[in-house]
Amino acid sequence: VSVAAVVPAAGSGTRLGAGAPKAFVPLAGVPIVVRAVDGLLASGVVDEVLVAVPAALVERARELLAGRPVRVLVGGAERTATVRLALDSLVLNSLSGKDSAHGGERLANPEGHAQIVLVHDAARPLTPPALIAAVVEAVRAGHEAVVPALPVADTVKRVAGSVVESTVDRSVLRTVQTPQGFTLAALRAAYAASDVDAIATDDAGLVERVGGKVHTIPGDPAAFKVTTPWDLHIAELLLERA
Ligand code: CTP
Ligand code: MG
Repeated sequence: VSVAAVVPAAGSGTRLGAGAPKAFVPLAGVPIVVRAVDGLLASGVVDEVLVAVPAALVERARELLAGRPVRVLVGGAERTATVRLALDSLVLNSLSGKDSAHGGERLANPEGHAQIVLVHDAARPLTPPALIAAVVEAVRAGHEAVVPALPVADTVKRVAGSVVESTVDRSVLRTVQTPQGFTLAALRAAYAASDVDAIATDDAGLVERVGGKVHTIPGDPAAFKVTTPWDLHIAELLLERA
């Protein structure tokens, strides 16, 4: 069973505010997207990677990722649109057997397209390869959708403006990370059933909307998303100690 990873890297990184799209910001000298892709490849369970970037940075991304089994394409205006484009490209490209960005060579799985798809944020550059392998393992074990999840440490309150309305029972809450893993069939069905401009903050959310069952496995704090300058600072410190 072949595994493809879709890496949404087409965001602008507004909250990071680093003066460049987040995926291209260096983290200890290596662009965030390169670290994310290399983590996927280091897991040993990913056969091909599709990276979706802003239109202006396609050539730059190809240079940065040269020599890896990676295809670069243009993303969309929202994360959901980016993943939809990449998913369409994954299926179309595999069916037509062409790969223009890779010297016309097929990347993987000559019989057809990958049967398992991971969607993994470029913005999670320190994700342990073992977590990536664990997600794939859970899909292989029969779960159609798998997300890494962590318990919530802080107390969570519902607010209206600055006023607290209630305290939420955090014991039933989880924060979820990527990679999220799916059977190709489940992820395609979820995207096919949702409106082209539907917006979800994660891919499993679309599977939930069509009644699919999403399985959780233990997440890893190191898979945190680099969102703010604080996160980038923490990531730099973690790499210094490694
Ligand atoms: N993403 C994407 N296409 C978009 C928006 C986001 O591929 N139109 C990707 C980002 O590149 C990132 C992941 O989705 O790898 C998670 O999104 P987020 O952390 O929100 O990144 P940005 O949208 O770039 O950041 P911000 O919301 O602060 O602008
Ligand atoms: Mg965003």
